[in-house]
Amino acid sequence: MTDQYAVVGNPIGHSKSPAIHAAFAEQTEQDLNYEALLFELDLFKEQAQAFFAAGGKGLNVTVPFKLDAWQFADILSKRAQRAGSVNTLMIGKDDKIYGDNTDGVGLVRDIVQNHGGNIAKKRVLVLGAGGAVRGVLAIILAENPKSLVIANRTVSKAQTLADEFADLGEISALGFDELAGQQFDLVINGTAASLQGDLPPLPDSILAADAWCYDMMYGAEETVFNAWARDQGAEKTMDGLGMLVEQAAESFFMWRHVRPNTTAVIESLRAQLG
Ligand code: ATR
Repeated sequence: MTDQYAVVGNPIGHSKSPAIHAAFAEQTEQDLNYEALLFELDLFKEQAQAFFAAGGKGLNVTVPFKLDAWQFADILSKRAQRAGSVNTLMIGKDDKIYGDNTDGVGLVRDIVQNHGGNIAKKRVLVLGAGGAVRGVLAIILAENPKSLVIANRTVSKAQTLADEFADLGEISALGFDELAGQQFDLVINGTAASLQGDLPPLPDSILAADAWCYDMMYGAEETVFNAWARDQGAEKTMDGLGMLVEQAAESFFMWRHVRPNTTAVIESLRAQLG
């Protein structure tokens, strides 16, 4: 029987996950069906239970249900425990629900493998301190950056994250205005500012000469953050389309134990965006 998978969120109509997983399944000759399901707010548990009770094999979980999925899972991977959120659920042979978070791996794999970048020994600045940033910090720190600064509008939220992840590396928290005079080799924008076409209030001259910048958002047009980065002389700017495909590939690997080739899928999505 064809195995059933889905991405769940609210809203969900815009999701590219069905197209991505259909491409992975075709490429790796996996017999599966993957659809987008609109879950009612406040009914995550009931609807997820119904999906698995009907024989569903796995779910991707997006806004606003990643914390519900974290609570729903019987067993959490180490990285999901750290992330405090789950974007991938799977039913095991023991009928237990396994929860994972593949966002951090998606981000790091896009920077390191797809773009040929390096995080080790770099001075890394992460902008934002919400769920998106919490989800990727442990995996960035596992690359052994020289230092990691979290800057956020609400500094107390950045400080809470820095305290929580302090055992994993050299990590500290600052407000945007306190960045003046510092230099970074890699700046990752994890704020929701790009969604609103906004830019965090960053001081000039915080990019090192060969700095790379990554916006976890993406769109048909260059994001305002990446336009700022180019203007500030960044050597390279990247957006989150590759991260989206890589986190999907990691979920696919968890479910099917085969690793799809992501390059062609990223290129095809990029062409569709344009
Ligand atoms: P997500 O799940 O996308 O991380 P979130 O948890 O609501 O969403 O977090 C949004 C992040 O974007 C926060 O760090 C937020 O800053 P505050 O903690 O100070 O609210 C940040 N953010 C949103 N809009 C922003 C803007 N216009 N400028 C700077 N930061 C912004």
